Amino acid sequence: MTRSRDFRSDTVTQPTPEMRRAMMEAEVGDDILGEDPSVRALESFSARLFAKEEALFVVSGTMGNQVAIQALTQRGDEILVGEETHIFNLEVGGISALSGVQARPLRSHKGRFDPAEVVAAIRTGGIQSAITRVLCLENTYDLNRGIPLPGEYIDEMAGIAHKHGMSVYLDGARVFNAAAALGVSVGRICGQVDALMFCLSKGLSAPVGSVLVGDSEFIGRARRVRQRLGGGMRQAGHMAAAGLVALKTMPGRLDEDHENALRLARGLSAIHPGLACPDETGTNIVRVDFNCLGRDASFMVERLLVRGIKIKPVGSTACRMTTHRGITKGDVDEAISAIRDIVS
Ligand SMILES: Cc1ncc(COP(=O)(O)O)c(C=O)c1O
Repeated sequence: MTRSRDFRSDTVTQPTPEMRRAMMEAEVGDDILGEDPSVRALESFSARLFAKEEALFVVSGTMGNQVAIQALTQRGDEILVGEETHIFNLEVGGISALSGVQARPLRSHKGRFDPAEVVAAIRTGGIQSAITRVLCLENTYDLNRGIPLPGEYIDEMAGIAHKHGMSVYLDGARVFNAAAALGVSVGRICGQVDALMFCLSKGLSAPVGSVLVGDSEFIGRARRVRQRLGGGMRQAGHMAAAGLVALKTMPGRLDEDHENALRLARGLSAIHPGLACPDETGTNIVRVDFNCLGRDASFMVERLLVRGIKIKPVGSTACRMTTHRGITKGDVDEAISAIRDIVS
């Protein structure tokens, strides 16, 4: 059987043999009663890694985001979110449906908000106004581009939000990719944020789960919200054990994915400069736009599939290609030559 080269997402990664062993051998208990040692181990390791007080294991990144927003807001509040973010676009309207919160979208330029626009978007009171409660950041920014945002920028944004009495929440689904690309620790990036979520199940290759991190008061509230949403788990340690292996063993290899993504972007831009932008490929995600060649995304997706290469359409002519542990340098070269064949 030929191996399919799946560039659609880093979520397709399979657990390593060490993760599978850890899952089988995990010591477990009832986590709703606080009795699962493997979940506890993952949570305390995560909190230490980010230099925060506590952590909470959740089912998914989406659940982490939703739990966090509910824990940080009251009904009728407003939160500031980036226009291209997961929390705004891809969570089924959860913040309004589940937490009664309205979103105020912010434009970004290369993943960054204009500080003046952030300040202007903060409501300053009055009986008719919602209260602007949370500034939501995302790092890496935009799941179709994966832009790493440095600690200095995050600090600047946090400074603005804190000055206005707001909380800062970071969707750090791929914060380990950001840290690797910037050559800093995740603690450096997240020092000024009040709460954050990171995913175990993407580039880190664990099968399931994300972790919320913050101070004890936030995690206490988040634990209650998780329960309310049906996210309390029992012998979750089987999953947490794989997550702990992921956290200890996978961040160090993400540079390889980033090198492969850059190789891919360079190879595609050599076919046509409009296809991909190496300068904007900062982590493991490459945005490919077939518009310059007059091709639809669906046409390219189908033609590549025949050759065992999977890519994800994200617009009428645009696709996303993601590198991860299941993609080798050879796979990247094959994808480049397959695309060259199809378009020529
Ligand atoms: C930036 C970002 N946040 C949150 C999520 C949600 O994670 P999950 O798929 O585990 O719900 C994703 C998933 O792709 C993401 O890219």
